Amino acid sequence: MNLDQNNLRAALRELRYPGTDLTLEAGEIIDDLRVKNDDVLIRFQWPTPFPASHQSVKEAVERKLREIGVNRTHFQEQVEIPAHPRQSEKSLLPGVKNIIAVASGKGGVGKSTISANLALSLARAGASVGLMDADVYGPSMGLMLGASGRPTMADEKTLIPIDAQGIRLMSMAFLAGDDTPVIWRGPMVHGLIQQFLANVAWGDLDYLVIDLPPGTGDAQLTLTQLAPLSGSVIVTTPQEVSLIDARKGLRMFQQVKVPVLGVVENMSYFIDPGSGNRTEIFGHGGGRRTADELSIPFLGEVPIDPEVARGGDDGMPIVRRNPESPAARAIATIAEKVSAQLAELAIQSRGAAALHLDWDDN
Ligand SMILES: Nc1ncnc2c1ncn2[C@@H]1O[C@H](COP(=O)(O)OP(=O)(O)O)[C@@H](O)[C@H]1O
Ligand SMILES: [Mg+2]
Repeated sequence: MNLDQNNLRAALRELRYPGTDLTLEAGEIIDDLRVKNDDVLIRFQWPTPFPASHQSVKEAVERKLREIGVNRTHFQEQVEIPAHPRQSEKSLLPGVKNIIAVASGKGGVGKSTISANLALSLARAGASVGLMDADVYGPSMGLMLGASGRPTMADEKTLIPIDAQGIRLMSMAFLAGDDTPVIWRGPMVHGLIQQFLANVAWGDLDYLVIDLPPGTGDAQLTLTQLAPLSGSVIVTTPQEVSLIDARKGLRMFQQVKVPVLGVVENMSYFIDPGSGNRTEIFGHGGGRRTADELSIPFLGEVPIDPEVARGGDDGMPIVRRNPESPAARAIATIAEKVSAQLAELAIQSRGAAALHLDWDDN
């Protein structure tokens, strides 16, 4: 076969980026493609940071090209996380490409644990990540990531986030001291969050994860309106009450038109370390059922594992402490899915914006 741009691109037309409906073409993931004699050079622009996704695309591309007789492919690659369009609309955080809110209907379901491990998974994959502990009632991120101290000031009113395991972290705990119970009234919560958005030098970030206060009341609603959120993750446990709360969370985000990236079922089951048997303490599958009922994605289930709790207490989250454990792998997979969905949203709206421009031209 005569190899030219067109038949090479045709051969790759069907391939999609893992975790998305984006074709490599539509997603602008193939940044450049060249043919020189028998050699094909492809330059990829990866929209998520996870090497496993990149690897599976490279393998699929090689397979497809081999089918049409190309045996010599060369790859160049770079990661370029696309920015959510909301970020340019509102200039509150112009350097932050994607903002992810982690919410739960009630406390104690593992919202902070998931936030910390999600942020760390993204950072470990090479993304630049910030974490805003917006749970002013029970700030726990300093403890979970083993960070303490007082943030320094960039200028009179701008706080510099603390570096915690490669993540830029800001928490009420750094300002009030770990032992001070913080009793904030509604308007003050509002003010504080605004300050965390406007007066913290977040800099350039691929992802900013926000650990919201538990619940779906006014404070949470205000927060979701203040920050230009790209998407949200709802954490729940398998119990019925918790699932009802998850539904409320979903309604809250729908009200403010923030896409729900999906539901995480935490403390889903227990694996007995001796026998390896799996016990479903609260029954399981409720998270998936709720997600299906509400037509939102199910991101995964995280088992109960004492090591997860220990990791939270000693500042070494499970994805670092024991990355191969089932709980860590579950959270890493969730992080991959979240980044894939955010990339899809960003790239699709890029297309929509272009379409919009075309219309305006005519
Ligand atoms: N998958 C899990 N396995 C074991 N313990 C967990 C798990 N997820 C969370 N925990 C523990 O449960 C408690 C509550 O979790 P936390 O993340 O603080 O919840 P929230 O932020 O929703 O209040 C913490 O002690 C935490 O270490
Ligand atoms: Mg918490």
